Amino acid sequence: MKLLVAYASKHGSSAEIALFIAQVFTIQGVEVTVKDVKEVESVEGYDAYILGSPIYGGLWLTEMSRFLDKVWVQLHGKPVYFWISCIRILESDGLQHALDNYIHRRVLDEIGVREVAVFAGKIRLDEIDWNERWTLSARYDGKALPGSRNDDFRDWDAIRAWAEKIRAEVVKA
Ligand SMILES: Cc1cc2nc3c(=O)[nH]c(=O)nc-3n(C[C@H](O)[C@H](O)[C@H](O)COP(=O)(O)O)c2cc1C
Repeated sequence: MKLLVAYASKHGSSAEIALFIAQVFTIQGVEVTVKDVKEVESVEGYDAYILGSPIYGGLWLTEMSRFLDKVWVQLHGKPVYFWISCIRILESDGLQHALDNYIHRRVLDEIGVREVAVFAGKIRLDEIDWNERWTLSARYDGKALPGSRNDDFRDWDAIRAWAEKIRAEVVKA
């Protein structure tokens, strides 16, 4: 069984999530490829796909949109799973808000994505430039001040649990 884990990432924390998910699948009989979506030349020849991107200014990264535009026909009907990472999920209504507002649902429905997960991401204010700080302040749509989020919020147990659930679905199939 061959799995493609493809991600978009600007500051690297989503790339680390993708690598972590891939590690959950490194068991006997599963051949895992982990790649930045910009490096994926073809999606042919895989049995399942796990795709993910962080949210910037209310939507996943442009690279992920470009990738999906390019490959959605080939992915259609295959076992495809999608995740996003963001900070909005840290608020009490965050999960629902992210699912309702950060996901371009029609695109995922056209592909037939089986499941969408929302993970908390990582943000270090000293690692982002002024332009990004400005974008974050202007575009962040939560109640908490985005500047109050300055940490690594990734919940590795939650990510592992999601990946293990998918593994149970696709590896036995
Ligand atoms: C400029 C900027 C804009 C962001 N916009 C949002 C947003 O609209 N909603 C949200 O929940 N998180 C937002 N975030 C948080 C990112 O989704 C989070 O930091 C993510 O983990 C970054 O992933 P990366 O390290 O792979 O780039 C933003 C972060 C930055 C730096």
